[in-house]
Amino acid sequence: MHTDLQQAIIDALRTVEDPDLKQDIVKLQMVESVEIEEHAVTVVLVLTTPACPFQELLKKACIAAIHKLVDDTLRVQVICTSKVTTSPQLTKTLPQVKNIIAIAAGKGGVGKSTIAANVAASLAQQGAQVGLLDADIYGPSMPIMFGCEHQKLQIEVHDNKKYMVPLRKYGVQLMSIGFLTAPEEAVIWRGPMASTALRQLLYDTLWDNLDYLLVDLPPGTSDVHLTLSQAIALTGALIVTTPQKVALADVSKCIAMFQKPAIAIPILGMVENMSYLITSHAEQQDHVHPFGHGGGEDFAQAHDIPFLGTIPLAESIMQAGDTGVPIGIEEHGHAQHFKAIASKLAQQVALQYFNATL
Ligand SMILES: Nc1ncnc2c1ncn2[C@@H]1O[C@H](COP(=O)(O)OP(=O)(O)OP(=O)(O)O)[C@@H](O)[C@H]1O
Ligand SMILES: [Mg+2]
Repeated sequence: MHTDLQQAIIDALRTVEDPDLKQDIVKLQMVESVEIEEHAVTVVLVLTTPACPFQELLKKACIAAIHKLVDDTLRVQVICTSKVTTSPQLTKTLPQVKNIIAIAAGKGGVGKSTIAANVAASLAQQGAQVGLLDADIYGPSMPIMFGCEHQKLQIEVHDNKKYMVPLRKYGVQLMSIGFLTAPEEAVIWRGPMASTALRQLLYDTLWDNLDYLLVDLPPGTSDVHLTLSQAIALTGALIVTTPQKVALADVSKCIAMFQKPAIAIPILGMVENMSYLITSHAEQQDHVHPFGHGGGEDFAQAHDIPFLGTIPLAESIMQAGDTGVPIGIEEHGHAQHFKAIASKLAQQVALQYFNATL
């Protein structure tokens, strides 16, 4: 009945571009439906992630295009839903998992686990289905960072095989060797045992449907890294650094490992942690840079890696980790840094997909 008007609206929507992909939203199949009732139009958009930072911008652009090119008296409503893209690299071995992202750094103690925990919490808070695998077999952090050190895992049997049920906290499905062993046990394991343990944590866990499975890696370039890259085709890696030269030197080694032809894991982006300290003096805030300034961003630019943002050095971030309540679940304060990084990471995942398929 409304086909002419509907077609005119769809043509108007062809003038709206996705800011990242630089292609029109109709071509990208982001327009799910255009419903017309009397003088009211409802457009449903399917975004590539619930953490899309451009929702409001896209809504406004769609309304403006319809008013400008079709009829400025129409009442237009734009509803955003999302469907996370599935990494084309993923094997069929974990069909319920759409994307697997490793959080890595060459150097220890730069904040991999802090960023993995908070980005996972933030993605879940924004409506994504998220899992977090603590692959630091020798020094698991997630039981403390999510406040579930003393919780027991449940085991379920399916087809005569035992599976572990991940713990759920703050909307995140969690698995860690720390849920299975006493803290001092894993330290004495040898490389092959750690590799076997990691495979079991990945494959013998009953992950529910996941848009993103984040994997918090141990420091360095160890057996665990090799196992992970051999066991499953990752969507990519997020690299964490501090601005310091020594941290960046180790990042180079880490990136070189991921880029080896036999491993070939895409680098989704880089985050600089402990970038600055906020000081207050006479009601004036200032930033000081105890570990140097801008090292991460300069490095990312020089190596053509997307720079996804900075996180300040803050007592509240450290405390949140220690008390088991990730700051990423909050709406305000330092949570905004993790939210921005989570959104940018989700965008990079979508970009990987479109670059490989369009
Ligand atoms: N932005 C930050 N502000 C304050 N403290 C932080 C910040 N990031 C990390 N920390 C603290 O620094 C310490 C190391 O962080 P974290 O455990 O996340 O690093 P890591 O890279 O995972 O370490 P490892 O290499 O041992 O796995 C922790 O005590 C954590 O609470
Ligand atoms: Mg860690």
